[in-house]
Amino acid sequence: MQQASPIPVIDYEGSQYRADFWMGSGRQYEDAAERLALQRLLPSHGGRIAEIGAGFGRLADLYRNYEQVILFDYSRSLLQEAVDELGGDERFVFVAGNLYTLPLASNILDSLVMVRVMHHLADVSAALEQLRRALHRHSVGVIEYANKRNLKAILRWVMRRQRWSPWAPEPVEFVEMNFNFHPRWMEERLQAAGLRIEERLAVSHFRLGALKARIDAHALARIDSRLFKVGAMFPLAPSVFLKIGAPDNPLRSAPASGAMAIERLFRCPFCQAETFTRSGEQRVQCTVCHAAFERRGLVWDFKEAVQPPKRS
Ligand SMILES: C[S@@+](CC[C@H](N)C(=O)[O-])C[C@H]1O[C@@H](n2cnc3c(N)ncnc32)[C@H](O)[C@@H]1O
Repeated sequence: MQQASPIPVIDYEGSQYRADFWMGSGRQYEDAAERLALQRLLPSHGGRIAEIGAGFGRLADLYRNYEQVILFDYSRSLLQEAVDELGGDERFVFVAGNLYTLPLASNILDSLVMVRVMHHLADVSAALEQLRRALHRHSVGVIEYANKRNLKAILRWVMRRQRWSPWAPEPVEFVEMNFNFHPRWMEERLQAAGLRIEERLAVSHFRLGALKARIDAHALARIDSRLFKVGAMFPLAPSVFLKIGAPDNPLRSAPASGAMAIERLFRCPFCQAETFTRSGEQRVQCTVCHAAFERRGLVWDFKEAVQPPKRS
């Protein structure tokens, strides 16, 4: 029986990610550019969408035309911030868990978003396998990764201010649990995971303090968006957005519209069964290994079983 994943995970529990990284840190341009990229690639409406590594729900307003929205993250405290803002909207389902044992049932998502998360993944292939599984044959996924072959890194390397080569295919861990990836390496991993790249955008070309200080963030993001497509021919921007599909996956395993019963959304992180019974409002139990999970406040907590799985 599978136990907790041995792959290391970055822990944002209790972090001030919103305040430290987004508020008052001069990142309005990056936020605006990422939104334009998502709006370009993601269907504007649909049945069920999940954002993987959604943090405090920075991008959640982009899912306003979806019928059911799953915000999934490893950090309970960041999810709680999302609950504080969005908890009154019944379309939202908040789930805490680990992407490597993604507790979402197979082939249930019509759309999937993952932004600024790949950057923290020590095992990209294991994560992609989980994302692929949650998609169905006609789903649209939008995933973002940090590009190691960006212009700043190339210049630093040329001037001998950086040891690692931006041309080398393997990922670079420049700070513990922070990885940048070569586009070719990433695309090979996606292909190996059974994911097809349908479109590529190069995003955030103007991540330079001097430019950001002089030009309005939204205007700069609009200029950036004109380069999304052409820049993607040979990405030199620090961020790459990919529209992906899983053409060999089965068809949707859930009703096309309307919110799905909570117990049908989940997969057991211990035994991978996808059949749960619900007892009351707050608890679901795996029918195979009997592990039980609870909703605490509005967050379904799959990081920890309130009743451990029975050993077979
Ligand atoms: C840099 S933040 C990005 C948050 C959000 N996507 C955004 O762009 O505002 C990275 C997020 O990924 C989550 N994360 C990292 N590794 C994870 C894993 N293995 N499973 C689930 N979430 C993970 C972190 O908890 C954190 O909230």
